[in-house]
Amino acid sequence: MSDTPTDYTGPQRVLSGMQPTGRLHLGNYLGALKNWVALQDEGTQECFYCVVDLHAITMPHDPDTLPDAVRSAAAAYIAAGVDPSKSAIFAQSAVPAHAELAWIFNCVARLGWLERMTQFKDKAGKDKERASVGLFTYPVLQAADILVYKATHVPVGEDQKQHLELCRDIAARFNRDYGKGEAFFPLTEPVIQGPGARVMSLRDGNAKMSKSDVSDNSRINLEDDADTIARKIKKAKTDPEPLPSEEAGLADRPEAANLVGIFAALAGKTKADILAEYGGQGFGAFKPALAEAAVQYLAPISDEYRRLISDKAEIDRILSAGAERASAVAQPIVDETKKTIGFWS
Ligand code: TRP
Repeated sequence: MSDTPTDYTGPQRVLSGMQPTGRLHLGNYLGALKNWVALQDEGTQECFYCVVDLHAITMPHDPDTLPDAVRSAAAAYIAAGVDPSKSAIFAQSAVPAHAELAWIFNCVARLGWLERMTQFKDKAGKDKERASVGLFTYPVLQAADILVYKATHVPVGEDQKQHLELCRDIAARFNRDYGKGEAFFPLTEPVIQGPGARVMSLRDGNAKMSKSDVSDNSRINLEDDADTIARKIKKAKTDPEPLPSEEAGLADRPEAANLVGIFAALAGKTKADILAEYGGQGFGAFKPALAEAAVQYLAPISDEYRRLISDKAEIDRILSAGAERASAVAQPIVDETKKTIGFWS
């Protein structure tokens, strides 16, 4: 883990979150969850993992299905190895400190900073006048999620880098304006690691694997059974060439590069290792081996997910305990922040 800024002397803490939209897939796992678990298992910093339901309502959503979507995301975190006895697992909306700090940060962030955010442009689409104001200030709430714990490290996928920069801009501006010469908030670093940091669609090697892709064949869901996984990998887009023996040969072959990257991440090897083994072979031989690795890897995760999701009461207990634990850290930080900016108390 990289060091925190030298002038911030608080404890190292980890926070991350995912939206409760749709089912989690291999890209979420290899790109983020795997790092969540690794940081938790280092055992040297407190970890906070939330399901960001406040962010979920920045786009049209269904109130009837949202509670179960939150439970489902929490179950996936746990199935992937986040351990509720080590890390706080909770719904963002259950810790009011997030929203409270977000308001303060709305008054710290500048309009110009938000206007540069590419995720807003992607999500708002052509008619941005119709986007919710919440969608525009989404990254400000994300900064509050992080800094309400004074988190120093955030394990995320590469696409979140820009939001982490904004979080540092907000922290720096706050420290400058109100810190009285000290770093009140840390300048949080993203933790982006591993060959799987960017898992692409099985149908298009230039598009991210995404839960919102209309084609279910584009992704491997954490709860897909063995036959489904094998079928999706068999159908995955490739090119007609055999696999190269060296990594350089993957340039300009996005689909091949993606499958080799996924195999490497699943097997805990490098791309070079995989190519040393499969170089010169066609996808006809490679795909069944990849499917087997994926099934082997995901089977225990999906079994555990299915077990958990059938026990709502257990998930609810975990979420309540997680929210309590998170609030115990977040509320004093918000109280201190309010005092710092001069609110009556
Ligand atoms: N924006 C993140 C995503 O789309 C989700 C998120 C919300 C998040 N708050 C966060 C991630 C805080 C890390 C830290 O994946």
